[in-house]
Amino acid sequence: MSKPKVLITGASKGLGLAMAKVLNNDYCLILHASKTENITQFREGNHILAADLSNNEELKDFCKKLKSEHGDELYAIINNAGIALDKPLTFQPEKEIDKMLAVNLKAPIMISKTAFKIFGLKNKGVIINVSSCVAETGNAFQSVYAATKAGLIAFSKSLAKEAAALNQGHEIRVLSISPGFIATPMTYAIPESEKEKYLKMIPAQRFGKADEIAETVAFLLSEKAAYINGSNIDINGGLF
Ligand SMILES: NC(=O)c1ccc[n+]([C@@H]2O[C@H](COP(=O)([O-])OP(=O)(O)OC[C@H]3O[C@@H](n4cnc5c(N)ncnc54)[C@H](OP(=O)(O)O)[C@@H]3O)[C@@H](O)[C@H]2O)c1
Repeated sequence: MSKPKVLITGASKGLGLAMAKVLNNDYCLILHASKTENITQFREGNHILAADLSNNEELKDFCKKLKSEHGDELYAIINNAGIALDKPLTFQPEKEIDKMLAVNLKAPIMISKTAFKIFGLKNKGVIINVSSCVAETGNAFQSVYAATKAGLIAFSKSLAKEAAALNQGHEIRVLSISPGFIATPMTYAIPESEKEKYLKMIPAQRFGKADEIAETVAFLLSEKAAYINGSNIDINGGLF
């Protein structure tokens, strides 16, 4: 029997790459990055579907291909690709605001729309949206980023209810996860002084590992998590 297919957006590095490593044995992966050549690992036996998610035409084409090339065997999608362009709001150019809204919020919504149609036909499927701890706590100089991530939590909860309202519900689950500070290329750029400040807020007294997020995702995709739906799962070492 062929393995169920799982889409991971932003699978070239960081959390998405760690998810690819952990999920590689159990699923056939559809690995996404902004460019095909950015996917350098886990290509064998899997599929690559590239698109710059800040580009509306590429996003539309991506959704079309996801449906036509992978719709039959699609079991789950993980909307993981994201960007953080940290800046005081008054200095944030509109272009950067649009880009964060497009990549972090519009793209997951459009990709979920495609997947939700597919899952509706089979009455089965899982959507995991990667939010962030700052969606719940707020963070200076990340107001737009935090807004996009908070949007993902509300979107996930609403879509989980919509599956039930459409009577499609019982095996369609929509979740979000909110990682805390995890060591990935996204957080390498944080200055040491800032990192010290964040560490003081984390009872675990360390940044998380990408694998710790990936293992949680693997559990959430599995049948063992069949009763977890609409939830936002914090994975943050107790961050407050
Ligand atoms: N690291 C953390 O501490 C942390 C905490 C909370 C939430 N998160 C969230 O977790 C997710 C993964 O973060 P990460 O730390 O793994 O980030 P990362 O190392 O910077 O990786 C980001 C991924 O997103 C893709 N991406 C970025 N812009 C894109 C675009 N315009 N079109 C298509 N793909 C694009 C990148 O693909 P390319 O290589 O092709 O650019 C890359 O695969 C993000 O949504 C982030 O907001 C991270």
